[in-house]
Amino acid sequence: MTHPLSEENRALIERLLGEMTLGEKIGQMTQAEKNSVRRGDVARLGLGSVLSGGGGSPKPNTPEAWREMVTGFIRESLASPVGIPLLYGVDAVHGHNNVVGATIFPHNIGLGATRDPDLVRRIGRATALEVAATNVRWDFAPAVSLPQDLRWGRTYEGYSQDPALVSDLAVAYIEGLRGEGWDSPTSVLPSVKHYVADGATAFGTSTRVNRLGVTLDHTLALARTGEGMRSLLNQGAWQIDQGDSPIDEATLRSVHLPPYRAAIEAGVLNVMASYSSWQGLKMHAHRSLLTDVLKGELGFQGFVVSDWEAIDQLHPGDYASCVADAVNAGVDMVMVPFDYERFIHTLRAEVEAGRVSGARIDDAVRRILTAKVALGLFERPSTDEALLSLVGCPEHRAVAREAVRKSLVLLKNEGNVLPLSPDLPALLVAGEAADDLGAQCGGWTITWMGGHGPTTPGTTILEGLRRQFGHPARVHYVPNGETSSRYPVGLAVLAEEPYAEGMGDRRELRLSPKHLALLARVRQQCDRLVVVLLSGRPLVITEQVPDWDAFVAAWLPGTEGDGVAEVLCGAAPFTGRLGFDWPLSQADVARTATSQNLWKIGAGLTPVSGEIPPLSPTP
Ligand code: GLC
Repeated sequence: MTHPLSEENRALIERLLGEMTLGEKIGQMTQAEKNSVRRGDVARLGLGSVLSGGGGSPKPNTPEAWREMVTGFIRESLASPVGIPLLYGVDAVHGHNNVVGATIFPHNIGLGATRDPDLVRRIGRATALEVAATNVRWDFAPAVSLPQDLRWGRTYEGYSQDPALVSDLAVAYIEGLRGEGWDSPTSVLPSVKHYVADGATAFGTSTRVNRLGVTLDHTLALARTGEGMRSLLNQGAWQIDQGDSPIDEATLRSVHLPPYRAAIEAGVLNVMASYSSWQGLKMHAHRSLLTDVLKGELGFQGFVVSDWEAIDQLHPGDYASCVADAVNAGVDMVMVPFDYERFIHTLRAEVEAGRVSGARIDDAVRRILTAKVALGLFERPSTDEALLSLVGCPEHRAVAREAVRKSLVLLKNEGNVLPLSPDLPALLVAGEAADDLGAQCGGWTITWMGGHGPTTPGTTILEGLRRQFGHPARVHYVPNGETSSRYPVGLAVLAEEPYAEGMGDRRELRLSPKHLALLARVRQQCDRLVVVLLSGRPLVITEQVPDWDAFVAAWLPGTEGDGVAEVLCGAAPFTGRLGFDWPLSQADVARTATSQNLWKIGAGLTPVSGEIPPLSPTP
């Protein structure tokens, strides 16, 4: 592996290391969340990083206010005694998705269905420009998860179940974030996550939430959930996410490690450790995988950042051991994120007690400074304010619309009811999700969990359909599907409730009673029934799909609902292909070699050919 830095830059790092006190070195290893940072502490403690967690926005939530907030932290860092520029991090996992007005792209499960690395590279570049516009230079993406149990609430953050496809699209996204070079003015540092085998955890193994006494800890209290935690837990929330991956080493190496190898070869300088465990050992304390494999065998020369409050899980109640074990295992920067002074004091005490070596501290800080120097932060700690005009710009929304078009997967099309003819005398559109921007964006949008309604500027599917039908009056929108009129075609748009992380873990994957009631009403009133599903994963629809004339998996398309309407109405072809097997029954949602599927990975129709893939034999 060639080192990412010039001799001159490496000498700068060694000079800084030689000048820094232990406190300043530990300050660089500390990442705090922006609402917890007291004014002046970035300078006083020399904090290496501040982040916005999901929904960690300034008020007002505007690109300008974001830029002002981030620039304030950077300015403070330059005023610290050692003057090392701060690196601000955000989860821009489908565009700069915390920022109102930013372009929101399809979530990764939809991008996997495009199988288009060039498109994903352009999405990475557009995302980098919008992120850099707010003076942010670190993006906690791409997730290179390989979801094995589709009930996982983070399935939609995975591109596919195919390691090669995940590697190709992740590298494309990384190249997009990088642009002309890591030291170019609008490059953004990717964080490849969550290392490793985060998508292989088994149902029922997560200990993240104590289901008996659900005391909403600080982090979970941040999640303003509509349904209430008790209801979500009863549906299976926090049963999988952050659990234990029981797989053997051969599977870990053949399925879950390849995207990291590809990302490191592409020059990434940050990896985020996974909350999950492998064979019972927490990844954040897994020295063999974090140091021997990632940094040794794979030659990773950047830094490992912990996940949010993740080290606290290592030894509940014994924070000193949490800190020592994580840093000794190979965690270089800790996403504390709340009580950052406790972390600093604890790590200092562990070093002074000889339980963490000075050499380990120097190695961690050297890795952090390698990324900061590679990004050119010392020469250019802030980006060009003129970039603000690019946030949500038409050119980026056009890329997002292209991605939406290419992400749609047509899985049934009896008699070629699709594409819809613009000459249709009338089209019944049913389902609140047809006119709900929040539903089509999903989680990690403006807030951590996402929401409903016009949470940010964009176009709903209904608005797109009305644009496609020259006479909008022909598009009859009946949210609950109750009508006495008769229609040649009824279009029902169904959506999962938005969710993020373990909040989206579910015991079963099925349509809700409300969905089924809507479908029954629409079915009665139309000759042909088209169903569009907005979801973060396949749902078990084996019993329902025979009653539909056409079915489109639209995933979580983001702000550009026009893209869905354009393909439904034939302005663009269906080209999407499944990036995951589509399970036949609830017994098949946790994929194994014997799982039965309604459709296999790679399935997808193009109406021109009209071939209808044989449905797997129903049980
Ligand atoms: C979250 C997620 C991680 C995210 C981080 C910061 O808990 O696990 O993907 O990057 O915290 O928001």
